Amino acid sequence: PVLDVSAVAKAGLWTYDPGFMATAPVESKITYIDGDKGELLHRGYAIDDLADNADYLEVCYALLYGDLPNAEEKDKFYARITSHMAVHDQLRKFFEGFRRDAHPMAIMLGVVGALSAFYHNHLDISDPQHRDDTCVDLIAKAPTLAAMSYKYSIGEPFMYPRKDFSYAENFLYMMFATPGDKDYKPDPVLVKAMDKIFTLHADHEQNASTSSVRLVGSTGANPYACIAAGIAALWGPSHGGANEAVLTMLDEIGSIENVAPFMEKVKTKEAKLMGFGHRVYKNFDPRVKVMKETCDEVLGALGVNDPKLALAMELEKIALNDPYFIERKLYPNVDFYSGIILKAIGIPTSMFTVIFALARTAGWIAHWTEMHSEAFKIGRPRQRYTGETHRAFVKVEDRK
Ligand code: ACO
Repeated sequence: PVLDVSAVAKAGLWTYDPGFMATAPVESKITYIDGDKGELLHRGYAIDDLADNADYLEVCYALLYGDLPNAEEKDKFYARITSHMAVHDQLRKFFEGFRRDAHPMAIMLGVVGALSAFYHNHLDISDPQHRDDTCVDLIAKAPTLAAMSYKYSIGEPFMYPRKDFSYAENFLYMMFATPGDKDYKPDPVLVKAMDKIFTLHADHEQNASTSSVRLVGSTGANPYACIAAGIAALWGPSHGGANEAVLTMLDEIGSIENVAPFMEKVKTKEAKLMGFGHRVYKNFDPRVKVMKETCDEVLGALGVNDPKLALAMELEKIALNDPYFIERKLYPNVDFYSGIILKAIGIPTSMFTVIFALARTAGWIAHWTEMHSEAFKIGRPRQRYTGETHRAFVKVEDRK
């Protein structure tokens, strides 16, 4: 049930809603979530259906244009994306300004914000064609920039996208190949897993980062700056930073016998169970099932027997049977398993949130362009003031 309070402001009132627990500032046709049923639909398609049958770029197309592409539309969209994956040569120099030990998420944030300086010249955000070109450009460049952030941080030369590789293949190629690897071809199991991770992270309606993109976008700001705002919001451990935090937590727990004492600490609120809980899902996160299956496939294909997976499963088992977690409806979220898959693929922990940002760029930019294609107001929340009321001014020499 929705209570429309849009007339409330006209009556000189406003609602107080910390954390936007009960506030929808927008209407959107992109993504539907039923948190009680554990349902997630993009443009009406169930997420598990998409993850099983479509690839990430088809999902991007649906997020942007409202429908899955037919064969011809798909070919054209892929060709457009592939031809925009390369980045301006000046950007290489921009990367070189960062410290080598900078967190790749800091680099990603800075570089995406700086795209405003490289690609803004003829951008008219009121023109649908300009907006569309920007959407394609950002989705296309996201894997290149993400991989460049990594390559820079390990001191290896940048690798450039190849026209004969798919989106996910290109990402793995730019991450792991070196100039000498002429015959590099990423493992198809890992390509499929990467593509699924991208798909499962593509959009999630008005979460903190998407809301940030919309809020910044509502001022008419440059879209690259808007996406940088999304990256900044995503970085926090309560949001996209959780996948990195899950692995840090598993490292800290160390071994199976430490799981039960750790869970006691969680209950006394001395620790948080990272990768658990969600503002909207109070049942299960529908992305987790696909993520867990993908995790099994990757570990099976690579022959990895990761003790962290055993720890993660023990944590999950205890949590799902413990009244503390049951009462609070705390279930594993998408980030609980994604970190284990990424680790098995050989991706360092510091890149986990960057990969989330890469994938979520599609959702962010789809929301940005949806907002600009209809009438919207600048986002301007109010506050409940709890400070001092009127006080008499005291001259500095008379202040105690
Ligand atoms: N571990 C332990 N207890 C938790 C957790 C957790 N991960 N999450 C919530 N709780 C407890 C809270 O302490 C609270 O308990 P109380 O009623 O005794 O005070 C209760 O569950 C309700 O929690 P809230 O904080 O009100 O839930 P909220 O909706 O504000 O927070 C959030 C959701 C931020 C995702 C939270 O569950 C969390 O921090 N999880 C861990 C981080 C994480 O995995 N984030 C990824 C989210 S998904 C994503 O961004 C892709």
